[in-house]
Amino acid sequence: MHNDVAKVLVTKEDIEKKCLELGKQITTDYQARNEVPLLVGLLIGSVPFMSELMKHIEMEISIDFMDVSSYEGTESLGSIKIEKDLTFSVQEKSILLVEDIIDTGNTLKEVIRMLYNKGAKEVRVVSLLDKPSRRTQNIKADYLGFTIENEFVVGYGLDYNQKYRNLPYVGILKREIYE
Ligand code: IMP
Ligand code: MG
Repeated sequence: MHNDVAKVLVTKEDIEKKCLELGKQITTDYQARNEVPLLVGLLIGSVPFMSELMKHIEMEISIDFMDVSSYEGTESLGSIKIEKDLTFSVQEKSILLVEDIIDTGNTLKEVIRMLYNKGAKEVRVVSLLDKPSRRTQNIKADYLGFTIENEFVVGYGLDYNQKYRNLPYVGILKREIYE
C-alpha cells in the first residue's frame, strides 16, 4: 500500500469483478432496447475505470472523451469549464457517460445538460463510485460500482493534485496529506 494512503476501500479485484457485472448488465440493457451506446469518459479520472469496463461490453461501441473541470483541491466548486470537447457528434446518439465518482453532482448535471443541448437522444451514467452524502443535485447513476462514505479517496483514476491516479485500488488519503 502507498505510504500516503490510510486505508484501501475498494481493491483491484473488487473493481474488476464489478466491471464484469456492470459490463454484462449494460450489454443486456442496451441490446434489449436495440441500441448501441457511445461511451463518453470524463477525463482524466474515468480512464482506468472505462478501460476495464469497456472490455466487458459486448457490442460494437464507440468511445470518446471530454474534459471539464470543477474541482480544485478537495472542495467542489459550483460551475464547470470545458477543457477538452468531444471529438464526435452526439446528435441522436445514446450516450453512456463514464465517471470516476459522483460527489455533489454538479459536474454531471452540467455535462448532461450540455449533451442534451448538443442533440443527444439519451444520456445515461455509469460511475465507479458514489458519495451520496455530499449530493446537492438530483443526480443518480444508472449503473454504479460502489457507494462510499464522505471520505476523500484516491486511486484507480482519482487524484489529489494530479497524484495517485495510477494506484490499482481506491483508498482513503491520509488527512495529513491534504490538511
Ligand atoms: P461533483 O461535481 O461534486 O460531483 O464532483 C465530481 C468530481 O470531483 C469527480 O469527477 C472527481 O474528479 C472529483 N472528486 C469528487 N470526490 C473526490 C474524491 O474523493 N477524490 C478525488 N476526486 C474527487
Ligand atoms: Mg472527474
